[in-house]
Amino acid sequence: MASTSHLSLLLLSLLLLTTTAPATAKSPRALFLLVLKDYDTLQYTAFVAQRTPLVAVKLTIDLGGRSMWVDCDQGFNSSSDRKVGCSTPLCQISGSRACSGNTCSLTPDNRFTRTATSGDLVTDAYAIQSTDGSNPRRVVSIRRFPFTCGTTSLLQGLDDGVQGMAGLGITNISMPAQFASAFRFPKIFAVCLSSSTGSHGIIFFGDGPYVLKPNVDVSKPLTYTPLIINPVSTASAFPLGEASADYFIGVTSVRINNKIVPLNKTLLSIDEAGRGGTRFSTVNPYTVMETSIYKAFTRTFVEQLSGATRVASVAPFEFCYKSNSFAATQLGPRVPRIDLVLQSTSVFWSIFGANSMVAMRHQDVLCLGFVDGGVDPISSIVIGGHQIDDNLLQFDLARLRLGFSSSLLSRKTTCSDFNLTIID
Ligand SMILES: *[C@@H]1O[C@H](CO)[C@@H](O)[C@H](O)[C@H]1NC(C)=O
Ligand SMILES: *[C@@H]1O[C@H](CO)[C@@H](O)[C@H](O)[C@H]1NC(C)=O
Ligand SMILES: *[C@@H]1O[C@H](CO)[C@@H](O)[C@H](O)[C@H]1NC(C)=O
Ligand SMILES: *[C@@H]1O[C@H](CO)[C@@H](O)[C@H](O)[C@H]1NC(C)=O
Repeated sequence: MASTSHLSLLLLSLLLLTTTAPATAKSPRALFLLVLKDYDTLQYTAFVAQRTPLVAVKLTIDLGGRSMWVDCDQGFNSSSDRKVGCSTPLCQISGSRACSGNTCSLTPDNRFTRTATSGDLVTDAYAIQSTDGSNPRRVVSIRRFPFTCGTTSLLQGLDDGVQGMAGLGITNISMPAQFASAFRFPKIFAVCLSSSTGSHGIIFFGDGPYVLKPNVDVSKPLTYTPLIINPVSTASAFPLGEASADYFIGVTSVRINNKIVPLNKTLLSIDEAGRGGTRFSTVNPYTVMETSIYKAFTRTFVEQLSGATRVASVAPFEFCYKSNSFAATQLGPRVPRIDLVLQSTSVFWSIFGANSMVAMRHQDVLCLGFVDGGVDPISSIVIGGHQIDDNLLQFDLARLRLGFSSSLLSRKTTCSDFNLTIID
């Protein structure tokens, strides 16, 4: 597959270039990782390069994960890994509440199986390609990049060949925070996931521009909304008093074709126990809604659909239609527009057909790509992968705000359109 060979090529050049990058070169202003969505598991994965000698390690992306973690039990071979002591500054900022034989201890978390263990905080050599925002530039290395040690059993449920997870959450030990501190660029990163399993998306670390072909800087314009800190962790296991590393936004209402969906507003805010609210997830392939929200949402959507031919449900979806019920547009099938209304009625995220409808494989069927989350989920709305594909989401950890683009298809580009020609 073209994309896979692209990926390996880039990695190969990355590994080769690392030894030749001049040590005196200027600090990069941004870095990037390519991300591939797996056809079967719908997990988003990326290769990172770490250890001595440097090897490529495949990780599943966890947008709200507290840190990067890898399996240190099997196949971990490095001459440069170092345990992080309990009294070090790195341990102090990591949020660790435990010490194991004078090694700083954290909680590596597999959020697919909702299993967590405790594991040592370790540093090792790390290499990543920099970018000027338009093309890949030289590879840069970090001598001591932190990650948590997981176990082989913690890999259950992850994609083939995956050796850990890439945690991008709101912590001081997460990958975006650590890249920012290693290269002294702003604590900003941007996620642009591809809707296609045959072509990669991209994560930028650092501020824009983020230029995608044909010469579209998707870092502007963006719409901004505050990120909300949930004071209670949403991880699989956590020490008492730990805040959530997940990215929450303040959805205040939902409109479909400008019609307000009747919702219990209490569910949209986060209560004292950390329940409720709206967050993002790269672990859920589709948006999951608490039952009463799901019912009101789908009822309103169906009311606004006219003349579509409904067909049998295809799990996990309930509302499925013949594809030819809908005209094709630049933004996907023509269906009612969904707006997630944020801090004011004039600030909203619009979801069009390409992000609301899911094409069933080998059938001419499109289903409404939202899932019933049951009566008492921890978070009321979890915005999943399909709804954020081909949208740029820029997370600013310092200013605690999210910038979002809405569908890039309206600008005739996609998240797989970064120009991979390397400029030295
Ligand atoms: C670990 O790396 C060393 C040095 O590169 C090498 O000699 C050794 O064979 C490796 N061991 C394994 C199990 O890969
Ligand atoms: C993370 O860093 C910020 C800014 O330096 C600081 O305010 C916050 O307390 C830190 N969090 C932890 C857990 O150390
Ligand atoms: C709204 O949701 C809250 C939280 O689940 C619940 O306590 C309350 O009874 C609900 N209100 C209505 C009118 O259903
Ligand atoms: C990709 O970047 C290279 C180097 O800047 C440039 O020569 C080439 O025209 C670009 N390709 C596209 C399709 O923009």
